[in-house]
Amino acid sequence: MDSNGELARAHADLWKHLFGFLPSAALNCLIELGVPDLIQNHGKPMTVSEIVGELSITNPIKTCCLGSMMDILAHSGFLSREAKGVEDEDIAYSLTTASRLLLKDEPLNLRQFVFYLLGKILAGPWPLLGQWLKNDTPTVFETCYGIPFWELATKSDFGPLFNEAMAVDSRLIGEILVNECKAAFEGLASIVDVAGGTGTLATIIAKNFPTIKCKVFDLPHVVAGLQNNKNLEFIGGDMFEEIPHVHVALLKNILHDWSDEKCIMILKKCKEAISEGEEKSGKVMVIEMVKREDDTVDYQLVRVRLAMDVHMTSCVNGMERNEKEWAHLFFAAGFTTYKITPMSGLISLIELFP
Ligand SMILES: C[S@@+](CC[C@H](N)C(=O)[O-])C[C@H]1O[C@@H](n2cnc3c(N)ncnc32)[C@H](O)[C@@H]1O
Repeated sequence: MDSNGELARAHADLWKHLFGFLPSAALNCLIELGVPDLIQNHGKPMTVSEIVGELSITNPIKTCCLGSMMDILAHSGFLSREAKGVEDEDIAYSLTTASRLLLKDEPLNLRQFVFYLLGKILAGPWPLLGQWLKNDTPTVFETCYGIPFWELATKSDFGPLFNEAMAVDSRLIGEILVNECKAAFEGLASIVDVAGGTGTLATIIAKNFPTIKCKVFDLPHVVAGLQNNKNLEFIGGDMFEEIPHVHVALLKNILHDWSDEKCIMILKKCKEAISEGEEKSGKVMVIEMVKREDDTVDYQLVRVRLAMDVHMTSCVNGMERNEKEWAHLFFAAGFTTYKITPMSGLISLIELFP
């Protein structure tokens, strides 16, 4: 390394990575303390002194630390920061569209997703990645907890937390889907949300398209006790065995949980389900990320997709896929054509035709 500042820049770059976890920790802390709600209820931008006053924090060191956390989140664009006067302490913070997604009263809030992803259970495995790469356990989750992800989700309090996190994600993605991809639902007679969790997405579809008969299919313990209504029915079962016969089978964020081999098995079961439905001219709708090589234009989306890839492979041996990888699965499962419709943000709708 030369002396033209390269060494110092490398040092700073390393430190940036060393503290890469801190924006997440700050985010978790601020939601736990209800800071976004305080700012919202205040009705105008709030200073750190006003926030600590509401939180009854009196220790000046802790006040200072809260201010630094607010600054970290403002730096990444998650909060907005403006000077109220000439003094530093007159800085006031307001919410952005992203931080509004953390408000308790926001109908599309993602708070449960944050608690799930940044909570103790999912934070546990990350220091063990290196150990996992060299040992015999299939996932870093098993290296950490001794049992697979899905088993822990069945047996412990982690299950309800996971289901709630999936539900809030589906609530947001569902709104985007029915707004941006309306045409894909027009004329459908019946739809099954395969591994549809507690039915949030199917509920949105049923509400927006009242003539479509909607079914939610998931493991028996996930749908146990959930109430059917007029055009929404819950069915327990195993997608590797048989999927209810319908016009259209939908898979949201399912295939990224599984290996290619398992995905082909699931897609074949979906193909059987739509071929044996009354309409016999159905399709499969896959709602997932499509990794793109030209993503360099949107640095943030590339980062999220790369991180999701590590998350999926190490926790459940799934993966995020690019179009070529998706196409391989679709053709191997016997579909003849597919159509990708990118939606705003991270997700695409992929329609598969037999
Ligand atoms: C990542 S979650 C996605 C839930 C929902 N589709 C969503 O996006 O909110 C995966 C779901 O697959 C379900 N699942 C796992 N194995 C299954 C199986 N063999 N048959 C049916 N559902 C299964 C889980 O219970 C869980 O609800």
